[in-house]
Amino acid sequence: MSTLEKFAIGVASALLLTFFGALTYISAETGVEVPTCITDVEPFTKDTLFQVSENEYELHMVARMWAFQPSEITLPPGSKVNMYVTSQDIIHGFHVEHHNINLMAVPGAINYFQVEFKKEGTFDFACHEYCGAAHHTMAGRFIIEEGAEPLTNTMEANGERLPIFTPVEVDGLALNDESIDEIQ
Ligand code: CUA
Repeated sequence: MSTLEKFAIGVASALLLTFFGALTYISAETGVEVPTCITDVEPFTKDTLFQVSENEYELHMVARMWAFQPSEITLPPGSKVNMYVTSQDIIHGFHVEHHNINLMAVPGAINYFQVEFKKEGTFDFACHEYCGAAHHTMAGRFIIEEGAEPLTNTMEANGERLPIFTPVEVDGLALNDESIDEIQ
């Protein structure tokens, strides 16, 4: 092997190690969580907002060409939302600005993530996966305001609660959503 080859291999290996190290460090430092895909539960077809406890909610979000249901959700600050997203037709995306939430809405499956809205404000969400002619209009918003009275359904009226998953652990470090505050 020529010296030049050894040099090239050395540089490539060092770069790989650097990238891997940076990725591990950033994941731990910013509290990256991986969304959970639920495939063993029949996807819901109705959008629902349940109030689970004083400041915890469960939101079943349905995506379809070209709208989210519900498209406007009003909650008080401090609300923790267990978010379940599915699609009725094709693959859509779901991203909420200024929050650590970015999911795919997949037909036949449910994606789960937990998000906490700590501050007041209006936070738009949009479909970020091209889904046809009116993709660019597929959006909605969370309105977080003090004293808000969310439009919730009762558990009895609309189906059942879905399983809540614990956050994924990275390197034995239990990550939580503290990082959401820093992102804002
Ligand atoms: Cu739905 Cu793009």
